[in-house]
Amino acid sequence: MNAAATARLVDLRCDARSQPLAVTGRPRLSWRVEGAVPVGYRVAVENLWSGTAEQRPWVHVDVDLPTDTELRWEVTAVFEDGTEVTAASRFRTAPAADIWNGSSWIGLVRAQEQDDLDRPCPALRGVCDLPSPVSSAVLHMTAGGIYSAHVNGVRLEGELLPGFTDYRVRVPYETYDVTALLRTGRNVVAAVVADGWWSGYLGFSGTRGHFGDLPVLRAVLDVRCTDGSRHLLRTGRGWTGGFEQVRAADLLRGQVDDLRRRVPDWTTTPAEPAGWQPVNLLPGPAGALVPRVCDPVQVARVQPAVSRSEPAPGRFVYDIGANVVGRPRVRLCGDAGTVARLRHAEALSPDGTLYTDSLRSAVSTDLVTLAGGYAVFEPGFTTHGFRYVELTGCTPPEAADVAAVVLSSVPELPGSFRCSSDLVNRLVDNVGRSLQGNFVEVPTDCPQRDERLGWTGDAQVFARTACLLADVEAFFDKWLDDLHDAQSPEGAFPDVAPRIVMPTDGAPGWGDAGAIVPWVLWEQYGDRRVLERAHEPLRAWVEYVRRRDEGLLWRGPRNNDYGDWLAPLPPGDPGLTEKDLLAAVFAAHSARLLARTSAALGDPRADADARHADAVAAAFRCAHLPSLPSWPQTACALALRFGVLLPDQVKQVEQRLVEDVSQRGHLTTGFLGVAHLLPALTAAGRPDLAYQLLLREELPSWLYPVRQGATSVWERWDGWTESGFADPEMNSFNHYSLGSVVEWLLTAVAGLSPAVPGWQVADVAPVLGPGLDWAAGDVPTPYGRLSCQWRREGQEVHLEVDVPPGMLARVRLPLAPGQSGSLEGRPCAEVVELQFGRWAMVVR
Ligand code: BGC
Repeated sequence: MNAAATARLVDLRCDARSQPLAVTGRPRLSWRVEGAVPVGYRVAVENLWSGTAEQRPWVHVDVDLPTDTELRWEVTAVFEDGTEVTAASRFRTAPAADIWNGSSWIGLVRAQEQDDLDRPCPALRGVCDLPSPVSSAVLHMTAGGIYSAHVNGVRLEGELLPGFTDYRVRVPYETYDVTALLRTGRNVVAAVVADGWWSGYLGFSGTRGHFGDLPVLRAVLDVRCTDGSRHLLRTGRGWTGGFEQVRAADLLRGQVDDLRRRVPDWTTTPAEPAGWQPVNLLPGPAGALVPRVCDPVQVARVQPAVSRSEPAPGRFVYDIGANVVGRPRVRLCGDAGTVARLRHAEALSPDGTLYTDSLRSAVSTDLVTLAGGYAVFEPGFTTHGFRYVELTGCTPPEAADVAAVVLSSVPELPGSFRCSSDLVNRLVDNVGRSLQGNFVEVPTDCPQRDERLGWTGDAQVFARTACLLADVEAFFDKWLDDLHDAQSPEGAFPDVAPRIVMPTDGAPGWGDAGAIVPWVLWEQYGDRRVLERAHEPLRAWVEYVRRRDEGLLWRGPRNNDYGDWLAPLPPGDPGLTEKDLLAAVFAAHSARLLARTSAALGDPRADADARHADAVAAAFRCAHLPSLPSWPQTACALALRFGVLLPDQVKQVEQRLVEDVSQRGHLTTGFLGVAHLLPALTAAGRPDLAYQLLLREELPSWLYPVRQGATSVWERWDGWTESGFADPEMNSFNHYSLGSVVEWLLTAVAGLSPAVPGWQVADVAPVLGPGLDWAAGDVPTPYGRLSCQWRREGQEVHLEVDVPPGMLARVRLPLAPGQSGSLEGRPCAEVVELQFGRWAMVVR
């Protein structure tokens, strides 16, 4: 059979998205091949550009493309036997910025100053009369706030749009192909706009209106008809609006609906709804209008409640079965005027009622006034982090009529890890849930309490785990914009990006996200553009840190200097890593990443950058190595993993780490050390200790929360103990940092890591240890899924490795002394190089 008969080209993407509609610059086109290995690829974008790729399944288009144009592109895989397979896809380029000329920010001024329960969301509509059938139509839309839009009554896809950025700098807009939704005659474009990040409550500030006062909308509908005419409908004076059922909506507080105020058909009817008025032209965001660079938040799944209880008379508690992020969907029934109240919580108090103390000021309560009879209530302009929903005020529906609509920027998790420990498998599921729940527009620290900001420290700790479980390239590309927008003129990256509510410059381990996250993305996806973008901002950060201390140790002001946040030890315990040491080791790490970035880009300053990185590392060693005998685990793990030691010092630090772990028998790491502890022990030749820490079930450990029934990753090791909940001031049950252990499960236990940026060559080197009989890991790569599984059978270990087409996997067999390996039944060396296919190996 010829190669082409077995091969398929799939997953064609433009800038890491499937068929985006507002592409700017020179995009990257990528795809995957299944079934056979081509000798190369040809790619063409219409007849504007063509290029070739050898092994890599992507190309960068290197001509400027016309604006506002739909383009078809094609990739052809060429096989050794001369056969070919072709697949095609499309994308659309963004319009020139002047498309927005003539459009205005519109909204409605509310009647009087309302309270939090009475801040109705404007419903806005514009009409467009078309003389003949439509040949093509796109709608560009954005808001100060969150919109939900309809064209002729059809809801446009995406949630929480236009998303969260620093609107003072950039305002993302979404583009829709609405050709199929328009018709000859009158057409209606309609949207409800809520406060959202723009004018709602945000973080722990206790205040709203961080960017603006009133929700506003801006849109341009651009239609071409078959008769050759072009029609532009722009938000402005011709639009009308009214307040209807959404009486208030806030991300932190919840949503208030009055179904009696629903205006039927207002998104479709050609005639203006009675009493609607011309809109107000209002002040809007000042930032540049730019196309969104990643997909919007989506409904990942709908998860029905598993049970209903009544812990107190008239209070009905629905259990969703897992701690998720999104909104409730409830089927209610009652007389007109009945007010149903829905509260949300991650946990229950011992008496079975909701435990909400840890939400702090996030009210997370939805209210709905019924119009009589049945109604499905699903508040679309708020999100909650919750496992439990409490309903009061109306007849309780069955559990089957209550569900969580789970939202995420990352609806799919193609990566996975499974092993012989059920508790570890549950831990991995919890990490996936916390990833999805906290990747909502920006990587948040937590999704439930009055926080939900893009904390940089948390993001850098978790970035690699996220890349191994999901395709987060476009998501992080967008967040890097947020991070760069948030850099201070002095070069400081912030504690949170977008920089709002918590406007401080970044602390050690937080601001360093600007160095670490781009490097992780480069290693995972291999697209040098991420380094090109990050390079100068990173240089400015390294300079900023350098200016804080002539001695290169970052002893100068360190902003909020959080340290190894939430390490499970009392203040003053010698197991806590000193903040001076943390600052110095992160300064060295960022300097090294700058040097590596310069080298990877062939920048002429690479040598000077490397000398600076050497000098910072030397300063670190000189200042801190003398105290090595008392170094805690985080200090050892970071020094080892950040490569700041001389070769002969590595052994000593490893010994110190092993000594501390053996003596204590448990981990002592907080956020900064946690991802590095097990990799450092493994590299030190003590995977047995790493396995021991992984499988420990008592406090502090990863499995302790799992044993307590956790369904997401807790912020603290001891969020709940026999003596009750930890301090509600800082006790979220959905914080992903401690979940960064999945990086080790996939890269060490399953043994999967990129040997070169972008995975063209992969290392597959599973490290076995006591306590697991088998393990299986799967990671998404630009070539497709790479997987490795192993199983002990008596004295033997059986391995199976699945390599996607185009990748070279260097498999290192886990040989114990005296053992040998075989590949497909024939003796083989300890390291074998494998290409596309599924390969079976045995160690005996
Ligand atoms: C957040 C974090 C963050 C930390 C900084 C907290 O309030 O929830 O996860 O990194 O502050 O110390």
